Amino acid sequence: MHTRRIAVVAGGSGGIGEGIVFALLNQGYRVYVPTRDGDHSARLREFVGADADVHLVPADLADADQVERLRKEIVDAEGHIDTVVVSVGSYYYGHRMHRMPVEDWNRTLRDNLSTHFNIQRAFVGQLREQNRGTYVVLSGPEADTIHPDEQVMSIMAAAQKMMARVIAHEAFDSMVRVYSITAQTSIATRSRDAQNNPDWIPARDLGSYVAALVAGHVPGIHETRHEIRDRRHLDAVLDEVRRRTG
Ligand SMILES: NC(=O)c1ccc[n+]([C@@H]2O[C@H](COP(=O)([O-])OP(=O)(O)OC[C@H]3O[C@@H](n4cnc5c(N)ncnc54)[C@H](OP(=O)(O)O)[C@@H]3O)[C@@H](O)[C@H]2O)c1
Repeated sequence: MHTRRIAVVAGGSGGIGEGIVFALLNQGYRVYVPTRDGDHSARLREFVGADADVHLVPADLADADQVERLRKEIVDAEGHIDTVVVSVGSYYYGHRMHRMPVEDWNRTLRDNLSTHFNIQRAFVGQLREQNRGTYVVLSGPEADTIHPDEQVMSIMAAAQKMMARVIAHEAFDSMVRVYSITAQTSIATRSRDAQNNPDWIPARDLGSYVAALVAGHVPGIHETRHEIRDRRHLDAVLDEVRRRTG
C-alpha cells in the first residue's frame, strides 16, 4: 500500500501552476515540477518555501524523450504517481492569423500542443498502467471564446481542452479519471501583480479546486468537464468543500 501521495504539476513554475503546487503541498502531496528556467525555479522555491516537499526536475516538455525520462525518474524514485496536473502554455498576442509569422505559429504549436501531447503520452500511459490516478488539464476562457488579437490562443486552448476530453473518452476501460477544468475568468497571479483585478480568481484558489477535485470533494467527480464561472462560483464551491471536510 502506498502511503505518500505523488503529484506532477507540468507548468508548476508558472503563474497559475505555482498556485496548484501550493494547494497540493497543503494536502500532503510530494510534488514534482518539470522546469526549464532557473529564474522560474527560484521563484517557485521562494513562493512555497525552501523546505517544501517539491522536486524540481529539468525537462523541456516539448521534447518527448525528456518527458519520458521525467516520468521514469519519478516512477523509479516513488514507484507510482497519483495525480498529474497540466498548466502549460505560452502566450501570444499581436497578429491576426493571416499575418502570423510561420516561426511564431511553430513556436506556439510547440509550447501549447506538442507539450500537452508529450505529457499525456508519458503520464496517461503511466496512470493507465497503474490503473488508477487522476489527470487534470487547465484552460482559460479563450478555450471557448475569441479574444481580439490573440485568436491563436483560442485555437490552442480549444485543442488542449478537446485533447483532455478525448483522453477522458478513451479512459472508459480504466480506473483513471481525466478532467478538463476551464476557469471562465482571468486568474490573479504573482507574476501579473499590478494588472490583477479583484474579480479574478487567485491562483491558489484554483489550486484548491484542483486539490478538492482529485480528492473527490467537489460535485461532478464523474464528469470530465468542470467549468468555473467566476470567483463567486468558485468561492461558493470551496466554502461547501470546507464545510463538508472540516
Ligand atoms: N483563466 C485563465 O486565464 C486560465 C486558467 C487556467 C489555465 N490557463 C492556461 O494555463 C497555462 C499557464 O498559464 P500561466 O498564466 O501560468 O502562464 P505562465 O506563467 O507563462 O506559465 C506557463 C508554464 O508553462 C511552462 N512551459 C511552457 N512551455 C514549456 C515547455 N516547452 N517545456 C516546459 N515548460 C513549458 C512554463 O515553464 P517555464 O517556467 O520554464 O517557462 C511555465 O511553467 C496557459 O496556457 C493558460 O492559458 C489559463
